[in-house]
Amino acid sequence: MHVITPSCTLRDWIPGDAGSLARHANNPCIAVMMRDVFPSLEDAHRFISMATGPTPNLFLAIDVKGEAVGGIGIHPLDDVKRRSAEIGYWLSESLLGKGIMTDAVGSLVPFAFERYDIVRLQAGVFSSNPASMRVLEKCGFTREAVHRDAITKNGALLDEVMYVHFG
Ligand SMILES: CC(C)(COP(=O)(O)OP(=O)(O)OC[C@H]1O[C@@H](n2cnc3c(N)ncnc32)[C@H](O)[C@@H]1OP(=O)(O)O)[C@@H](O)C(=O)NCCC(=O)NCCS
Repeated sequence: MHVITPSCTLRDWIPGDAGSLARHANNPCIAVMMRDVFPSLEDAHRFISMATGPTPNLFLAIDVKGEAVGGIGIHPLDDVKRRSAEIGYWLSESLLGKGIMTDAVGSLVPFAFERYDIVRLQAGVFSSNPASMRVLEKCGFTREAVHRDAITKNGALLDEVMYVHFG
C-alpha cells in the first residue's frame, strides 16, 4: 500500500526499516504517550516481521525522504465491537510540528473506512497529550468521552480521552 500526502508517504514496512525504526522510535518522549507494547530498540525486527506478516491490522511506515520516521496503523476490533477500529500513530521527535501527522491521519481515515466494514474509527489519547488531540480534531474526529483513570503509564494514573470519526 502506498499513500502519498503533501509531507510524507505512507507505505508498507520493509525489513530494511529496522535501523531507522529503532533510531526514531526508541525515545522515552514518544514512548510516554504510547501503550507499553510500543517497539524499543530490541524488538524493531520483531515488530517489522509482525507488521508484514498475516494480521488483521494495518501497519504502515511514515516515510519522509526515503526514511521510515514514524508509524501509523489501524486495529479492527472484534466480537460485538467488530464495526469499530482504532487508529494509532507516532512520529520521530525530530520532525514534530510540521503537519506530518495531520497529513498522515487525514489521508488514512478514508482508507480505513474503505478497507474495513466499520462505522466508527476511534483513538484513545492520554490526557497528557494535547498535540495528538489537536491532530485528531484537525482530521475531523470529535471528542466523545473521557475515561477517568483508565491509563496507568510509567506509574501514573491518566485519563483516556476518546476521539471518534464516523466516516
Ligand atoms: C502527537 C504527534 C503525533 C503530533 O505529530 P505532529 O506531526 O507534530 O503533528 P502536526 O504538526 O500535524 O500537528 C500538531 C498540532 O498540535 C499542536 N500542538 C503541539 N503541541 C501542543 C500542545 N502542547 N498543546 C496543544 N497543542 C499542541 C500544534 O500546534 C499543531 O496544531 P496547529 O496545526 O493547529 O498549530 C507527535 O507528537 C507524536 O508522535 N507523539 C508521540 C506519540 C503519540 O503521541 N502518539 C499518539 C497517541 S494517541
